[in-house]
Amino acid sequence: MWATSPESWRDGVRAGPYSHFRRWNSVSRLMWAGGGAPLHTYDHHMSEQNRRLVLAHRPSGLVDEGTTRLETEPLPELQNGEALVKVRFLSIDPTIRTWMDDVASYLPPIQIGEVIRSGGVGEVIESRTDAYAPGQLLFGMTGWQDYVIADTAERAMQVLPDGVSPGIAIGILGVTGMTAYFGLIDVGQVSDGDVVVISGAAGATGSAAGQIAKIKGAKKVVGIAGGADKCAYIVDELGFDEAIDYKNDNVAKRLREACPEGIDLYFDNVGGSILNDCLANLAMRGRVVLCGAISTYNSDGPPPGPSNYLSLLVRRGRMEGFIIIDYLDRFPAAQLEVAGWIAEGKIKSSEHVIEGLERAPDALNLLFSGGNTGKVIVAL
Ligand SMILES: NC(=O)c1ccc[n+]([C@@H]2O[C@H](COP(=O)([O-])OP(=O)(O)OC[C@H]3O[C@@H](n4cnc5c(N)ncnc54)[C@H](OP(=O)(O)O)[C@@H]3O)[C@@H](O)[C@H]2O)c1
Repeated sequence: MWATSPESWRDGVRAGPYSHFRRWNSVSRLMWAGGGAPLHTYDHHMSEQNRRLVLAHRPSGLVDEGTTRLETEPLPELQNGEALVKVRFLSIDPTIRTWMDDVASYLPPIQIGEVIRSGGVGEVIESRTDAYAPGQLLFGMTGWQDYVIADTAERAMQVLPDGVSPGIAIGILGVTGMTAYFGLIDVGQVSDGDVVVISGAAGATGSAAGQIAKIKGAKKVVGIAGGADKCAYIVDELGFDEAIDYKNDNVAKRLREACPEGIDLYFDNVGGSILNDCLANLAMRGRVVLCGAISTYNSDGPPPGPSNYLSLLVRRGRMEGFIIIDYLDRFPAAQLEVAGWIAEGKIKSSEHVIEGLERAPDALNLLFSGGNTGKVIVAL
């Protein structure tokens, strides 16, 4: 089903989404007054323990207290070619929940007893390689744990350029923002005059996608989000033209009102009944971008298919999915463009920060309860 193997994901990470960033330091400096200084001065003792959250039981539904187990282990002896990285921030992504299921996907499932797989940002504490210097911030696959070892092979990480804050690196300039960018532009082929609908519109990916649609000339951008506050936020703060509150509105009816000539491009983050309602209101040659289906990730078994799929036939439409790791080699140019929009004030992002490694499972659940606005990050 998936076009990309774990090997190519690792290759992509090695190639490095941030390897080009030195070219735009003058822009990126605007984004972090800290200017790349280390976050903390750290007195490292090798007696320090690594706390890690491992998968204890595969969840059915939301993760709960039995899903993960907190373990401690001594820090490994650092070898030549390695750096010890203190994890500072974890990127909390809905896909982590899918990796907990024993189901083949674009990456293998997390095995019982393995640390929970996750992206994150850490600070180099000690280094035995020229690739990383103490105090540098690195982005990569950290896992839900206090420390990770970086090298220049399987465990390679990218050095954050000066001026790029960890939140920006994980969020709007990271996988999240890039997902919105390529999903909308490459897969969705957004163009001038389009009527665009985005679900999960107050979340990290959806909020970026809606703003990018406006920047790229969409005639109207309608966001679907849960609750009056989120709907007000996407219209008042992010510049969406209209919002539909799927928890309180009749979505099908509101879509017909908001898009009387149909939807040219639907960016789907949620699947389920909202996908079905958007399919019913597709414009001629309408496109549906399958970015995610968060409404289904906690369900056992396959989700029901959208009964309105024949709209694609009648309206000569197209529905296409994508996985962002297929675009890693194109991150540099996209990040430069998005960084320019940030510097010009054309695009905003927000972060929802939760403190403490042990609260990472709660942070993951926020994505499913809708308790977040913007990118969910755990600060360690
Ligand atoms: N294709 C790819 O390569 C790729 C890469 C990254 C992310 N994604 C996908 O992008 C989507 C968004 O991810 P994100 O990290 O940006 O998370 P996010 O949007 O910041 O958070 C998830 C949001 O989903 C909404 N939600 C949860 N359950 C829902 C339901 N049953 N019905 C409708 N909305 C629901 C919640 O908002 P409300 O309060 O509005 O309900 C929640 O805030 C996910 O589906 C994810 O899997 C795909």
